[in-house]
Amino acid sequence: MSNYNIKHLEEYFKVYRKSVREPEVFWEEIAEEHFSWHKKWDKVLYWDFEKPEIKWYEGAKLNITENCIDRHLRMTGDKTAILFEPNNPDEGAQHISYRQLHERVNKFANVLKDNGVRKGDRVCIYLPMIPELAVSLLACARIGAIHSVVFAGFSSNALATRINDSDCKIVITSDGSYRGAKTIDLKGIVDVALEDCPGVHTVLVAERIHSDIKMKPGRDQWLQPLLDQASPECEPEIMDAEDPLFILYTSGSTGKPKGMVHTTAGYMVYTAYTFKNMFRYEEDDVYWCTADIGWITGHSYIVYGPLANGATTLMFEGVPSYPDYGRFWEIVEKHRVNQFYTAPTAIRALAKENLGYVEKYDLSSLKVIGSVGEPINEEAWHWYNDNVGKKKSPIVDTWWQTETGGIMISPIPYVTPTIPTYATLPFIGVQPALMDEKGEELKGNQVEGRLCIKYPWPSIARTIWGNHQRYKDTYFSAFAKKYFTGDGALRDATGYYRITGRVDDVIIVSGHNLGTAPIEDAINEHNAVAESAIVGFPHDIKGNALYGYVVLKEAGAARNPDNLRKEINQKITERIGPIAKLDKIQFATGLPKTRSGKIMRRILRKIAAKDFTNLGDTSTLLNPEIVQEIIDNAH
Ligand code: PRX
Repeated sequence: MSNYNIKHLEEYFKVYRKSVREPEVFWEEIAEEHFSWHKKWDKVLYWDFEKPEIKWYEGAKLNITENCIDRHLRMTGDKTAILFEPNNPDEGAQHISYRQLHERVNKFANVLKDNGVRKGDRVCIYLPMIPELAVSLLACARIGAIHSVVFAGFSSNALATRINDSDCKIVITSDGSYRGAKTIDLKGIVDVALEDCPGVHTVLVAERIHSDIKMKPGRDQWLQPLLDQASPECEPEIMDAEDPLFILYTSGSTGKPKGMVHTTAGYMVYTAYTFKNMFRYEEDDVYWCTADIGWITGHSYIVYGPLANGATTLMFEGVPSYPDYGRFWEIVEKHRVNQFYTAPTAIRALAKENLGYVEKYDLSSLKVIGSVGEPINEEAWHWYNDNVGKKKSPIVDTWWQTETGGIMISPIPYVTPTIPTYATLPFIGVQPALMDEKGEELKGNQVEGRLCIKYPWPSIARTIWGNHQRYKDTYFSAFAKKYFTGDGALRDATGYYRITGRVDDVIIVSGHNLGTAPIEDAINEHNAVAESAIVGFPHDIKGNALYGYVVLKEAGAARNPDNLRKEINQKITERIGPIAKLDKIQFATGLPKTRSGKIMRRILRKIAAKDFTNLGDTSTLLNPEIVQEIIDNAH
């Protein structure tokens, strides 16, 4: 019998040891006992971190939607699969049962087929958090198409880059989206994007805000009439274990976004198994993850992980501040939510508001509360623990990444004792290593270094779409035969891990990963700008905010600096999206550079954080005098 549901700390250690000693035996048992397969695998694991190449359950045949939907129909077909809570509470929630989900996914899958989508084709999904979003992912998976969801806060430019990179021929969007009291013209954003995407022949449009949009004849079609006519039966495409399931883009420190490719069987097994354990999900629980499905958290822990366990997963369209700051807690009370999973930035934003917003609601249904996306600071941890968890629901501080597919380091609730700011222990099968700068592994406890993983786990991304070399360079080259996460971490005296943050040029702002290079490129497009450098600085709600140092072509161009700042942020909004806007922009006559011309970001980071001490040896700079000028003008 496999240990699908870990209940005690001793059991965790026992199972963990087994997963390390005999990983193939372990993952074979989990896969065998908890999922349905058309054919079992020939080999559990093949791996080579040098090539790099990783295959799990090779030779197995399955369809993930049968595991997420069909197999629950007989026993729990009427159970709510997706509980949709709209932006406006007066609209009322929707309960979509497993049976209804089955029908909706099949119809959608047939619409995709009718529009020429075949196994292996890429489908771009640019939708708000409405049921069609979850349904469209599953519809792609039903017919073996590869979905590529683009978060609906990205600009047309960012959308076009992603559509073209994975060569999507079809885009699924809506007439618009609600965001609190505002509406956003999503279809308009798609229209602009598609001016640069000649490969797209079809746009399917879900109706959400009933706005007056332009439909391009021959290309754009309303989704609902097509669904109304579609058959509710669609035989699942039988997929190989290693067939791609989806592409999801994430920022790199340089260059264009990386299309991380996740494959079918390993991703399914790992997200389902982690979901069950990290949230201690039980039969009638209502589980809610507040992330957007546009990010990996939504893919793994709103859609695939929960549905593979036959769970009720809540999808929330709105924002935490609408109609007021009590919205999250109102939803918890209304739907008797048992597991609640959110990001530190949301916790910090809500902690700033009157406590009355939390106290007004009955949160006694909560059993587990989670955090994801960035390190959770001690103050936020305590606020969450005291006011939401009421000191009885454990906080699971889950560390993972788009690339890892599922949660890697986290307490298991009611099993692992928690400590604020610690992600605690590796999950079953996860073998972390901390490395020093020379590439040696730091053995033992009380060490701090760069976080790597030494052994494959089933949901590791297999490649970067169209660029395997970049996959190798980014993740498998810094340290021999190890996956490098890009994060720093420490291991304390008891073996607990604490993530200390990124060690590269990725900055996490409000839980969103942003690479500095694309933002700098956007700024440099402004006519007046010669060059720029972006760094992060501490921000009490966003975790980090962006500070831009901008050098102008002509010093006099900053005569109206506030205007220029607005224009620069406008450029960023157009190229990437509002999430990448700068909080502070400082104009400078130059940037500190090494003799080889590299910008010394370390110094700029310190200045942005108002830490003017220990700037290090600046004498080796090409232009040491610039440092004092920048300090004198810092905000
Ligand atoms: O730096 C880590 C941080 O978020 C990065 C991954 O971001 P993304 O791929 O967008 O996925 C976010 C959701 C899984 C990591 O490299 N991060 C994520 N969770 C935590 C975290 N940092 C500290 N503690 C966490 N719990």
